[in-house]
Amino acid sequence: MSNDCKKAYITTPIYYVNDVPHIGHAYTTIIADTMARYSRMVGLDTFFLTGTDEHGQKIEQAATQRGKTPKEYADEISGKFKSLWDEFDISYDKFIRTTDDEHKKGVQKAFKTMYDKGDIYKDEYEGHYCISCETFFTDTQLVDGGFCPDCGKETSLVKEESYFFKLSNYEDKLLQWYKSDEKCVLPKGKKNEVVSFVEQGLKDLSVTRTSFDWGVKLPSVMNDPKHVMYVWLDALMNYVTALGYGGDEENMKYWPARVHVLGKDILRFHAIYWPAFLMSLELPLPKHIAAHGWWTRNGEKMSKSKGNVVDPKEVADAYGLENFRYFMLREVPFGQDGDFSQKALIDRINSDLGNDLGNLLNRLIGMSGKYFGHKVDSSDVLEFHKNEINKANTILKNLPEFLYNMQTNRYLEELWKILTIANQSIAIYEPWVKMKEGREKEAMAVVALVANLLAKVSLMLSPVMPKTCEVISDAIGFKNDTNYFVKLFEQEELLAEFEVKKVPPLFPKIEEEILKEKKEESKPKQTPKKEEKKTDGIITIDEFFKTSLKIGTIIEAEEVKKSDRLLLLKVDLGEESQRQIVAGIKEFYSPDELLNTQVCVVANLKPAKLMGMLSEGMLLAAKDKNGLSLLRPETPKEVGTKVS
Ligand code: MSP
Repeated sequence: MSNDCKKAYITTPIYYVNDVPHIGHAYTTIIADTMARYSRMVGLDTFFLTGTDEHGQKIEQAATQRGKTPKEYADEISGKFKSLWDEFDISYDKFIRTTDDEHKKGVQKAFKTMYDKGDIYKDEYEGHYCISCETFFTDTQLVDGGFCPDCGKETSLVKEESYFFKLSNYEDKLLQWYKSDEKCVLPKGKKNEVVSFVEQGLKDLSVTRTSFDWGVKLPSVMNDPKHVMYVWLDALMNYVTALGYGGDEENMKYWPARVHVLGKDILRFHAIYWPAFLMSLELPLPKHIAAHGWWTRNGEKMSKSKGNVVDPKEVADAYGLENFRYFMLREVPFGQDGDFSQKALIDRINSDLGNDLGNLLNRLIGMSGKYFGHKVDSSDVLEFHKNEINKANTILKNLPEFLYNMQTNRYLEELWKILTIANQSIAIYEPWVKMKEGREKEAMAVVALVANLLAKVSLMLSPVMPKTCEVISDAIGFKNDTNYFVKLFEQEELLAEFEVKKVPPLFPKIEEEILKEKKEESKPKQTPKKEEKKTDGIITIDEFFKTSLKIGTIIEAEEVKKSDRLLLLKVDLGEESQRQIVAGIKEFYSPDELLNTQVCVVANLKPAKLMGMLSEGMLLAAKDKNGLSLLRPETPKEVGTKVS
């Protein structure tokens, strides 16, 4: 997806209506939605298409099994996809159904055009067909004599009259295209697979069926009513019929697609058949065909029979839709398979979102409120922090390229580097010290630096987390829109004076898994292996790491009046809220000398009450006859840094 013209047409695959939406569908759709939102923000005239694929033998069978007509069944499941995408606030411009009349007309026109050109001819098909994949296979492609090489299900032998598309005629042209357009198929590894498949030679493709009825009929002028179109020809054409191909062609101005987003399982159809059909129709080819990997759950392939299919709505309801979006785009490199586990999702929410992003906003609200009555002025940022601003701008400049190459995880990783600059700046420049010393102008510059870095992050993160970033931009007083994209990104400007509003914490800490996992089949209990048995005083590394040790900064310290031993501390561990710790160190330290110093905290200790006060952690210290010393990092470390 590059920015070389002013339009962007972005598509998801159209989803089969034989099954309800699951996490894989949500992933494809969320990537495409992010691309569409990004294109709109950078000012491109964007058209985003999704929809459902409703014809074919698979759907006909699924409907019959449920005692419904295919159309009744398709209406029901298509409705489920549409309402889920509405609930997920997917910003599609059109939801196409292959049972729409305009679509069917467009497919018929395409068929006739290819036929008239001599690219389609009638013959007899004899071979194997996998209904689940809606794909033809030759004898040699089958596994164990009769099973589908893609999904492993049993295939059926088909012998019937069929029309064929002269795919073999397009072999050289396709190879030429792959060669001339480096990024036509992304990522590169997947493209190489496509190229070597085509290099092995392409056979003509059967594009009609006669043994069932649920499909688009041939154009009536062809006078051959027993044929229906092959579901993949029907389905792929949706990308142009949605723009009016074969009817009112006004929206064809959006063609060719900027990017077709899809899963690796359907890349062959998109990167071989689809461009060949387009060449035959003399239409331009899509700019990018981008194939992502598959999601597994806790390391296993998802399947209905295992009962481990992840329901995207359940996850979004439990953990927050936008947190889920962030997780999916950040967790796996585009093109690779990814594993869904609640633990990984919780880690991302608590750490990346809570600690790095949410906490930064809280600190900004806190500092601007405490020192400047919430009013922030960026006038002196460049005088004191040109270096940080330059670093952030360099990171920003390189960001779009990651998205154009579909590297959503890299895009987010880079964005997080700006959050690190902001978080580190607070620790390094200590605005509270500057305030104490009466250097208000410098303290203001730190606070304004943080606000501006956060604003730039919010802007660029908004295609991934639109609502969350709206809360952030509202709090800082700007909008994540094209105007601000021009100002903050293209022109590298800073925000003028603004007032920071208070907002509730964006990412409350998640303590434990919210969704119930399906219980493992009861495995026989294993007796611990010999070497694992406990020996006095010796623990395993796993046992040691049950203790979470973190670096924190003491931001408040006071004496507990009625106690000779206790101090009451507030420690910043880089989390949503600060920890209150009651520590028995009064004899050795005064509150003043502790303030703004770093300590090492046992962070996963069960909270306890000391003299009626909650203590949410313990400080590490060493005591001998000469007294007690707190254990601290040799040089300042970012708050929340793990000790290992
Ligand atoms: N109807 C065809 C597409 C026609 S497009 C002209 C189809 N539909 S599908 O419903 O089976 O799959 C749609 C998308 O969901 C594909 O991109 C597929 O890769 C994706 N996923 C389905 N299961 C998946 C996972 N477990 N993980 C990630 N995505 C997967 O194919």
